[in-house]
Amino acid sequence: MQENAPGAKKNFYLTTPIYYVNDIPHIGHAYTTIAADVMCRYKRMKGYDVFFLTGTDEHGQKIEQSASAKGLTPKQLADRTVVNFQDLWKALGISNDEFIRTTEDRHRRTVQAIFSKLLDQGDIYKGTYEGWYCVPCETYVPESSMGDDKTCPDCRRPLQKMQEESYFFRASKYVDQLLAYYEKNLKGVMPKSRYNEIVSFLRSGVRDQSISRTTLKWGIPVPGDDKHVVYVWFDALINYVTACGYLDDPEKFAKYWPSVHHLVGKDIIRFHCVIWPIMLLALGVNPPVSVFAHGWWTVEGEKMSKSRGNVVDPFEMVERYGRDPFRYFLLREVPFGLDGDFSEAALVGRINSDLANDLGNLLNRTLQMIDNFCGGNVPAESEPGKIEQEIRELAARTVDDVDGKISDFAFDEALKSIWALIGRGNKYIDETMPWKLAKEGGEEALNRVLNTLYDILRLSALLVAPFVPDTASRLWDQLGLEGNPAELSIDGFAWGERIPGQKVKKGKVLFPRIDLDQWRREKAARDNAKADPSKAEPEAVPEHEETVEVEAFKAIELRIAQILAVEEIPKSKKLYKLNIDLGYEKRTIVSGIKEFFTPEELVGKRIVVLANLKPAKLLGVESNGMLLAVGDSKKTTLALLTPDKDIPLGSRVS
Ligand code: ME8
Ligand code: MG
Repeated sequence: MQENAPGAKKNFYLTTPIYYVNDIPHIGHAYTTIAADVMCRYKRMKGYDVFFLTGTDEHGQKIEQSASAKGLTPKQLADRTVVNFQDLWKALGISNDEFIRTTEDRHRRTVQAIFSKLLDQGDIYKGTYEGWYCVPCETYVPESSMGDDKTCPDCRRPLQKMQEESYFFRASKYVDQLLAYYEKNLKGVMPKSRYNEIVSFLRSGVRDQSISRTTLKWGIPVPGDDKHVVYVWFDALINYVTACGYLDDPEKFAKYWPSVHHLVGKDIIRFHCVIWPIMLLALGVNPPVSVFAHGWWTVEGEKMSKSRGNVVDPFEMVERYGRDPFRYFLLREVPFGLDGDFSEAALVGRINSDLANDLGNLLNRTLQMIDNFCGGNVPAESEPGKIEQEIRELAARTVDDVDGKISDFAFDEALKSIWALIGRGNKYIDETMPWKLAKEGGEEALNRVLNTLYDILRLSALLVAPFVPDTASRLWDQLGLEGNPAELSIDGFAWGERIPGQKVKKGKVLFPRIDLDQWRREKAARDNAKADPSKAEPEAVPEHEETVEVEAFKAIELRIAQILAVEEIPKSKKLYKLNIDLGYEKRTIVSGIKEFFTPEELVGKRIVVLANLKPAKLLGVESNGMLLAVGDSKKTTLALLTPDKDIPLGSRVS
């Protein structure tokens, strides 16, 4: 990655895509934003002045349609759903500096100013868009996907040749200029495979782009021609300059724009690596220093979709496993840039091996030995030996390696490198056996080992801080250190800079091991409940009450009855007065089932009644028995017990 584009000194500006507000956030959105967060946290720890932006894309047909289906205005829909994203970023510990919504006034003004400028200089012109249109679906169908006799591939109805007035952006004019830019900036698109894809796409030529619509209202009006609204992508891309002060804060723009990087998924790479840089060239603004396109998550081998019901809810993952393990897993599991497959089993595997076993154990074993052999204090200074020298060199290499890897967005490799150091620490304990040294009175040797371990942990806390900030701060705390590693400088770290005698604070284990048998049982129960809500487990596993003699059951007289009539009881929200037939007699019972059934649903039903219950008066009505029913733990449904065959009324249940 090119760090210091001309004019920029130690500034760093990173964006995520702005997400559509018609969707609820899932692990795909979480992935991009977490990766961006790690990058920004790391850059801050390297002394950069960072500007980290995320936000929401709130205009366009998708939002308009989805709002009207819900009976809301598009703005109402956006106001409701934007909160889901904002809350998720809080839950995930995202450190964004700003959050932009495209419905904000600053953005409307910026889009209109840019539109007017490009119109004035002749890079936007009015023309006609011609194509095959499906009126019921309100969409143009490209010739390549039309049916045989010019029908709509979706609804199969005949298409109409339509002409519509539209504004066009003269993208074709800037293709050569952009190609020249990419020839000089080999990391302008990353990874390399995407760079090649974009360059060959550009070589095949780019058409002028239709950038306005007259078929919908929900968008930014074209200045001076409000029959048109600006096309949603032209509007959305501009968010990156709006938030950076393009219109309102030239100083901020001058400071951060020369160091701008965009992080996106591979689905939207052409918008970011072709259209957007061309828009910028037309404006006389430099294209982004880099655009990184990461890969796509599937879930247990399948495409994530609402209709498949396999969309993974990041809130649920955070609640079940904690935010640090979730953040760690997403960035460690898959090489950044490639596609990946999400499974909870793999997440649990990583928690147990990398987090609990490797990192957690290294801390635990080290602090335990400092407690046992040094009264809980960092040992006195000691001369390093050969292995210690070698570990120190490994540590220095790790710091450099991590820097290179993170700067190239290779988060998984950065983590591998950190974990190699942690693994070296654990192996070092096994090699040196400090408990033996303690017994044999080798105090100098013992101190040397514990000091080395202490330094490995100090450095690890700093290096993992961008990825797992809460964990880093707990680690720091247990080492007896002040402050928060996330706010420290990585370059300020010095090996050996310990304070002898400093008290360590062994605390709770960082990551409790997850018991796999229990986890599998719980997972199976959750999957069952999802597939069939009626199989959902009752909330609490029942405690076994005292056993009873069969006589106790025999004392209870359960009989089959039929509901003859249902009457409301004035002023009662819950109770019905039921007239029931027990075959040998008719009775009145009062029953608290009104919230779950209408009278029509009840009349004629055969039920089970506790027939020898002491009579009681409820709201002035005498009840002579009780019907049997069962509800779920959340009290959302209630089911009546009924015999599964016809049985004479009055028959006794045994
Ligand atoms: O495209 N795997 O918004 P969007 C990985 N508003 N990443 C995924 C993913 C998956 N399965 N699903 C989504 C838009 N993403 C436009 C962007 S920017 C000016 C306008 C992530 O809500 C990934 O980053 O559809 C992808 O690019 C983005 O969400 C698309 O979000
Ligand atoms: Mg999308």
